[in-house]
Amino acid sequence: MSTNITIKEKIFVTKPLLPSLLNVENEIREIWNSKWLTNMGQKHNLLENKLKEVLKTPNVSLFNNGTIALLVAIKSLDLPYGSEIITTPFTFAATPHCISWNGLKPVFCDIEPNTMTIDADKIEKLITPNTSAILGVHVYGFPCNVEKIEQIAKKYNLKVIYDAAHAFSTEISGRGIGTYGDITMFSFHATKLFNSIEGGCLTYNNPNLVRKIYNLRNFGIRSEELVEEVGINGKMNEVQAAIGLLNLKLFEKEQEKRAKVKEFYDKHLSLIKGIRIPKIANGVTNSYQYYPIIIEDDYPLTRDDAYTKFKEENIFTRKYFYPACHDYECYKNDLAVKLSDFSVVDNLKHKVLCLPFYGDLKENTLEFICEKLQKGFK
Ligand SMILES: Cc1ncc(COP(=O)(O)O)c(C=O)c1O
Repeated sequence: MSTNITIKEKIFVTKPLLPSLLNVENEIREIWNSKWLTNMGQKHNLLENKLKEVLKTPNVSLFNNGTIALLVAIKSLDLPYGSEIITTPFTFAATPHCISWNGLKPVFCDIEPNTMTIDADKIEKLITPNTSAILGVHVYGFPCNVEKIEQIAKKYNLKVIYDAAHAFSTEISGRGIGTYGDITMFSFHATKLFNSIEGGCLTYNNPNLVRKIYNLRNFGIRSEELVEEVGINGKMNEVQAAIGLLNLKLFEKEQEKRAKVKEFYDKHLSLIKGIRIPKIANGVTNSYQYYPIIIEDDYPLTRDDAYTKFKEENIFTRKYFYPACHDYECYKNDLAVKLSDFSVVDNLKHKVLCLPFYGDLKENTLEFICEKLQKGFK
């Protein structure tokens, strides 16, 4: 492989999945004709039902974005005010912020070196009489250790919440990832494999949560004269739902294309000294959300150097997740943060680089990226 090209257009870490404008126009026309723009309309309800099949879960509640969905997920479990939720610091800001916005305290736990999800073996020593839940993130679509987390939750009577923003359609031995724990959030943000521009959903097994979540998403309003809960506005509108319905027809094809991109990267990067490619466990289906690599100490450049060199060539990789959440100004002075061991995450946050990853990535761009990494940017 020898490429002597320059990359003229900016290459970002992802490219949104977009339905054809003609199909969007038809959907919008239907919405205009119906004059029903939001508040659990026809397209909303259809998408909710279709997602039950795709995600293999008995209950789906749609939301206007993943953050409000996660906020409501935590709220729906009626956890004691001020109690602690053990979570991962290796995630997007929304995860711990949703805990804080609920008046609860995020307690950060170190991560596992391969999957980079919360280290279930380190959870127990963080449990106090104030702990009420565990919130795991299936980061990059790598599932948390769901079995061990379930055992711990049972032993200490804790609730389990999952952030599956990166794990759309992931399954463990054929079981939908959204059926683990008490409740799971998916994000349909434009950067996600399956998107409705902005959007998200909650999935859960417990039928008793249906009414509660419906209320919390809609100001607590049950009927014209009955307000049951202190709710918020989390409703997905009809235009979002229409984009979701169209993208639902396209996401599997996009996954197939991303599988080929992954194959190319794996083939050309896996033998490079100093580059590690995290492996997805047997029996787990890949969501194909991100392609993270780990740039180890024996690679000639640091992760930050590789990031900068790529940027100079118009390749915009991402340092997900640097800084880690326990480094944020709003969390770093917490006593629990100061006392905790973050040895794995504090190492990995300087080493992970997410490479451009989407179906339409051209082969010569892929060759260019791989060659730069093979030659240590020389
Ligand atoms: C891990 C994680 N959690 C939560 C969110 C928030 O989702 P949204 O952007 O749909 O609000 C995102 C991304 O956007 C995310 O990556």
